[in-house]
Amino acid sequence: MDTKKLEQTLVLIKPDALKNSLTGYVLSQLSEYHTGLRFAAAKIVHVSRILAEEHYSEHKGKVFFPSLIEFIMGRVHYPDEPRNHRVIALVYRGPGAVQKIRDIAGPTDPHIAREQKPGCIRSLGTVVSIKDAKGNTIGDRMDNLIHASATNEEAEREIKLWFKPGDIPPFMHAYDTADSDTDYSMKDNKLLTKREQGDICFIPRGDTVWSSDLDALIKISKGEHSELSLNAIVAKYLINSIHEKD
Ligand code: PPS
Repeated sequence: MDTKKLEQTLVLIKPDALKNSLTGYVLSQLSEYHTGLRFAAAKIVHVSRILAEEHYSEHKGKVFFPSLIEFIMGRVHYPDEPRNHRVIALVYRGPGAVQKIRDIAGPTDPHIAREQKPGCIRSLGTVVSIKDAKGNTIGDRMDNLIHASATNEEAEREIKLWFKPGDIPPFMHAYDTADSDTDYSMKDNKLLTKREQGDICFIPRGDTVWSSDLDALIKISKGEHSELSLNAIVAKYLINSIHEKD
């Protein structure tokens, strides 16, 4: 397999970009003309709390984490408009995809982006103070318009978190897939491998899934440890479903 040809990266156009009508600008900055990269997938995602927390799991415990979760869920920019709680998730592909998009995105902190890389996408972002219940400033949140995977490993984890194989044309799949021979469902926060009344099926038998999801589900259903959490799998297969929580 020519992995260079298949190199992919995840981009999220965040709620602050949507609110400020910057979607067209971001897409044009990331166009094939500027990057030499092509689309592999695109979708509009209602971001559940579980999906948000899985995406930013490495930042759990940091002072900005709760605010970051509210932000990516769209609750900061659209407090009274749940129908606008969404991000645009994109997969770009091509040699050097991760680094090329990180370069155009620029530094995480928009203030630093403006100083060090005027003209990069995040130079149009802002930094917002995070307050505690008493109104004291306890930290900052970066409203930096887009997320872009930092490494190839992160890109694989993130693409598999936001996209099912069926969201990506088969000839653009960069990761192994398999057909599930089991119905996987959830009831009372428990994983089931046989349908029960009142359960929520997130992978019906016969569906094509990421092989790594199937490996994890087999382990979890046997009570074995899995690096990949059940939440990370369920969150993806329920994206934009009426069964999605929060
Ligand atoms: S760091 O500094 O290494 O933790 O930064 P990084 O791993 O690149 O990304 C951290 C993500 O959290 C968002 N965020 C913040 N980072 C650092 N400091 C503060 N105060 C902060 N607030 C929010 C930041 O935007 C990164 O998310 P993405 O989506 O990648 O931009």
